[in-house]
Amino acid sequence: MKSLADIRFLITAGPTREFFDPIRYISNRSSGKMGYAIAEAARAISSAVMLVSGPTALTPPKGVEFVPVTTAQEMAEAVWSRFEAVDVCIMAAAVCDFRPKKTAASKIKKGSFSGVLELEPTPDILAELGRRKKSQVLVGFAAETDDLESNAREKLVRKGLDFIVANDTSAFDAETNRVAFIGHEGKVERLTELPKSEVAKAIIERAVRLVR
Ligand code: CTP
Repeated sequence: MKSLADIRFLITAGPTREFFDPIRYISNRSSGKMGYAIAEAARAISSAVMLVSGPTALTPPKGVEFVPVTTAQEMAEAVWSRFEAVDVCIMAAAVCDFRPKKTAASKIKKGSFSGVLELEPTPDILAELGRRKKSQVLVGFAAETDDLESNAREKLVRKGLDFIVANDTSAFDAETNRVAFIGHEGKVERLTELPKSEVAKAIIERAVRLVR
C-alpha cells in the first residue's frame, strides 16, 4: 500500500476551445470550478498533483503543477504523456466532443462565410486512457440532461473507468454540485447537494481507497 502523501494525481479541468478562425471558437459553459476543487483536495494530501486545465478565470491552487492548454488536442497530448507516471487520474474537464474541420488562417469575413460550420470528432481522451491503463485509478465525469445514471453506467464500462461521477448539467458554472458515484459494485452512491469543495473531497477519498 502506498502512503497517502506518495499518491501522484493527474486532474483535468475546464472547457476546451476549438477554433474555426484565429479569433473564433466553439466551447461550452464549464467554469473549471469542480476540477480546481479536486486538485485542491488532492493537494491537501499529496504534493504530487498536476492540473491540466483549459481556459478558465480561476487561479490554480498553490503547490500544484499547472499545465494550461486550449484545445482538446492539446489536452489529449498533455494528459496522455503524463498518464503513465501517475496513480490516480480524474478527468473533470468538459472536453469539446467536436471541433471545426478547418481552421481558417485569417478572420472569416461575413460576406464570404457560407453559414455552415463542418465539424469532426475530437479524440476521446478518457477512452484512450482506459485502453492504456495499468494500475492507475481512472475516474470520469458524466454530465447529462437525461437518463443520468444509465448513461453514466454505459460510460463507466465503455471508457474502462474505476468509477464515474454523474452530475446533471445544472452544475455547470455553479458553486455546488449534486453527484452520484457509480462503480462496478452495482450500487449507486448518491450525495446530497454540497459545495464543490466537499464533493471534491469525497471524490479524492473514494479514488484513494482504490489505489493499489
Ligand atoms: N471526455 C474526454 N474526451 C472527450 C470527451 C469527453 O476525455 N473528447 C471525458 C470527459 O472529461 C468526462 C467523460 O469523458 O470525464 C464523459 O464526458 P461526456 O461528454 O459526458 O461523454 P461523451 O464521451 O462525450 O459521450 P456523449 O456525447 O455520448 O454524452
